[in-house]
Amino acid sequence: MKKHGRVVIVANRTPAAKSAGGLASGLLDALRRERSLWFGWNGELREDDGNCVQLFSCDRLTVAAIPLSPEAHNRYYNGFANGVLWPAFHHRLDLMRFSDDDYTGYLEVNRHMAAQLRPLLQDDDLIWVHDYHLLPFAGMCRRQGIRQRMGFFLHIPFPVPSVAQAIPRIDELLDEMCAYDLLGFQTEDDRKAFVNLCRERRPQIRVPNTGGYPIGVDPLALQAEAEAEPVVQLWPRDRSIRGIISVDRLDYTKGLPERFKAYALLLEQHPELHGTMQLVQIAPPSRTDVPAYVDLHHELTGLAGEILGKYGDLEWQPLVYVERQLDRPVLMPLYRQARVGLVTPLRDGMNLVAKEFVAAQDPADPGVLVLSRFAGAACQLDGALLVNPHDPGEMAQAMLQALSMPHAERVARYRRMWAVLCASDIEGWRVRYLKDLEALAATEETLAPATAGA
Ligand code: ADP
Ligand code: G6P
Repeated sequence: MKKHGRVVIVANRTPAAKSAGGLASGLLDALRRERSLWFGWNGELREDDGNCVQLFSCDRLTVAAIPLSPEAHNRYYNGFANGVLWPAFHHRLDLMRFSDDDYTGYLEVNRHMAAQLRPLLQDDDLIWVHDYHLLPFAGMCRRQGIRQRMGFFLHIPFPVPSVAQAIPRIDELLDEMCAYDLLGFQTEDDRKAFVNLCRERRPQIRVPNTGGYPIGVDPLALQAEAEAEPVVQLWPRDRSIRGIISVDRLDYTKGLPERFKAYALLLEQHPELHGTMQLVQIAPPSRTDVPAYVDLHHELTGLAGEILGKYGDLEWQPLVYVERQLDRPVLMPLYRQARVGLVTPLRDGMNLVAKEFVAAQDPADPGVLVLSRFAGAACQLDGALLVNPHDPGEMAQAMLQALSMPHAERVARYRRMWAVLCASDIEGWRVRYLKDLEALAATEETLAPATAGA
């Protein structure tokens, strides 16, 4: 088999412009051992967005990052990627706000990024493109004469066909996606949804190879970080207050209001629990220029205030709500201190927080994961208590069960999930995907045909 040269990662986020989020943290962990170039946005908004690639190294990784003009970024990132694709792919058509200008801006940034990447490429590079910001990137590259093998991985769910059909310009986007050589999805359901949509809407187009590649974590590294002396001790070590922890970007897909309402129900139904437990919600602000995110912030602070006003007193607060991003060495020991990890998105590609929570637990005295059955991770983490995040009664019941679960059952559930984390870790994810992409490179000499589009 032909051995590839560098792996070239293309993503909107780069280590130059990191945010809380699965893409950046997952990729950074995956690339430690690979000689790679990582290309994307540098986090800067500048009018003279022209031809300015900034290069820097971190370990074996070279980062090549470009600025974007405020207007281009607004149309591409806030407008089409996060105003149309993100809500629609998460089945929130009610939050979708389409405009032709945003769509044109999205295509234009994809074309611009392809042009900026082109001179940096070497013949034997394997190009691996990430996430919904870059659906048309392969088509743009092919039309500019870039011939290297190019794979794509979607970190978020793919919508079922009945929902996907409501996305304006979806047919053009499908054609563009089919210019990749390999399309990777988090779950088999996502992969099937994509293939079925193509069959239904674009029967004339050749669909490239597709596969399910559930993203993982580095369980041993996370365990080691979690074992360290905590920077912050949230709850008494004697467990006189049992901690429930939730960590999510402040995003409407994460089911935060539903979670707060279920917690309020638990407090209402079980006064005997008052003073014995506490929910800590850590939620760093995200995409604050998109109106739906601003609305969510207001809704949540309102709900948090209601819970505190109704149930809190001078000695005990039932809820701590923190809109902050924390460093991983701070976060991991917090997971370990918690008796319950509450991860209840309404819909999620994978959800790395669920896996991080499990990895961080003390094997001798582990906490319990309460997980939405609509997170990709639910297909793998069968030791979790699976819940419907739309059902407050079911969630309250699961929290109660988790808080009082006997030691032997906690250990048994944890061991099943730990085995899954180890069998499907981030290194395995990288190796499997790149092996499949490289195998295509070795066997198929013809390039996917350039497709229509801008
Ligand atoms: P998403 O990618 O949609 O944000 P994931 O759960 O897959 O959801 O990934 C979130 C990543 O961001 C995890 O690695 C998590 O540790 C990190 N993260 C989330 N919230 C915080 C926070 N408050 N501080 C630091 N990291 C966070
Ligand atoms: C999700 C997306 C990523 C994104 C991350 C953080 O994980 O799949 O592509 O990077 O959220 O969002 P942001 O908009 O800050 O990059």
